[in-house]
Amino acid sequence: MIIAPSVLNANFLNLESDIKATEKGGANWIHLDIMDGSFVPNISFGPGIVSQIRKCTKLPLDCHLMINNPELHVEAFARAGVQYITVHAEATKHLDRLLNQIKELGCKAGVAINPATPLAAIEEVLDLADMVLIMSVNPGFGGQSLIPYCLEKIRSLHSMKPNLQIEIDGGINLETLPLASKAGVNIYVIGSAIFSAKNVEEETRKFFSIL
Ligand code: DX5
Ligand code: ZN
Repeated sequence: MIIAPSVLNANFLNLESDIKATEKGGANWIHLDIMDGSFVPNISFGPGIVSQIRKCTKLPLDCHLMINNPELHVEAFARAGVQYITVHAEATKHLDRLLNQIKELGCKAGVAINPATPLAAIEEVLDLADMVLIMSVNPGFGGQSLIPYCLEKIRSLHSMKPNLQIEIDGGINLETLPLASKAGVNIYVIGSAIFSAKNVEEETRKFFSIL
């Protein structure tokens, strides 16, 4: 089980201490939500901030690109020092080429789909991708509720390829994590459930004791 706190809802004026607190709480990766105000209706941060984050933690950085024309930007994020780059199937016309491009940059390649996108959009690249990210909310904002039919999609994906790394993103908290786990998830992105807590370190630790 991998817990990947998303810093989207962290305190950006104290980002380093928030990240270190999740690290002390046992977090395995740090999840970075990159938004361009075009693919999703929100803007977050870019490679400049990512390279600063790289300096304050040794944990693998899991970069989730919610941007149009991702092929123009993957190199900048690879240079910023991330280990995983996940791109949306909906954001590119040449998914095969893009996943190969990410691997050639020396990163692991993930592919993501929105709630309304069927698994058929990624079936052909399941052997090429290092992981699949199933969005369980409409991307753009933290703090939303998990859309239940996304768990059904995860169950189908898991039975299609049982050893696939499946990441879930959106609405994960202490109640929903066990449901996602039963469906076949092994990587959990957790934003507001960790960073809105008073004690970020303790809150992170709780997630390791519920399964
Ligand atoms: C949503 C982002 C998520 C989000 C998760 O667009 O991709 O990573 O920050 O936040 P919570 O856990 O609050 O749903
Ligand atoms: Zn994300």
